[in-house]
Amino acid sequence: MKLNTEEIMEMEKIKRINLINSVSGIKPANLIGTVSNKGVSNLAIFSSVVHIGANPPLLGFILRPYNEIRRDTYQNIMDNYYYTINHIHLNFVEQAHYTSAKFEEEVSEFDMCRLNEEYIDDFPTPFVRESKIKMGMEFKKIIPIEINDTSLIIGKIKILVMPDEATDELGQVDPAKVNNVGVSGLNSYYSLKKIGQFPYARKEEMPDFSKL
Ligand SMILES: Cc1cc2nc3c(=O)[nH]c(=O)nc-3n(C[C@H](O)[C@H](O)[C@H](O)COP(=O)(O)O)c2cc1C
Repeated sequence: MKLNTEEIMEMEKIKRINLINSVSGIKPANLIGTVSNKGVSNLAIFSSVVHIGANPPLLGFILRPYNEIRRDTYQNIMDNYYYTINHIHLNFVEQAHYTSAKFEEEVSEFDMCRLNEEYIDDFPTPFVRESKIKMGMEFKKIIPIEINDTSLIIGKIKILVMPDEATDELGQVDPAKVNNVGVSGLNSYYSLKKIGQFPYARKEEMPDFSKL
């Protein structure tokens, strides 16, 4: 298959969405928890969480256009500044998927999808109890992406909670150790298996690829 922009734009709409949503490869699967001004908790699946920087510790995610469609996650973050990012594991992947359904504003996806709220220390927003790796986030910046009306939401990690065994000797999180899943497109989930670890890449220490 070989497609140029025009051919992609001429594709049947759902096929085009499915193709372009999945063509960037496996993405992380996270649940974002928020609370509304009326005190209603909200939970939604997001596959666009991305590392922004370690100093200070920042993560971002891409938000779909919010002008015409009610987006509870967006509204709650704008109103209350705090949200949680909770990793999704094999044992609740289907429940996590259904948090993407459009429930009414006064309904909590925690209840509808049978996931438990957990409050940690004095952080004002619920975490997902079933999730092993979770972060309490403070909203920092919204960057509009005018090209398609989406936004990049950037937040600072205020609390990071995870089992000690989730990290390796270098301090890196090993998603396989806690049975995390990855997402392709909007509905295909994959389990993760670690297949290698290499040292920091220095050109002076290159393996000999000439024999490949
Ligand atoms: C696998 C998957 C990944 C998703 N990733 C995103 C995402 O990165 N950004 C986004 O705005 N919506 C994403 N969505 C859609 C939201 O989950 C959906 O719009 C949800 O209803 C938002 O809930 P809210 O209105 O409570 O914020 C994703 C949906 C699925 C099924």
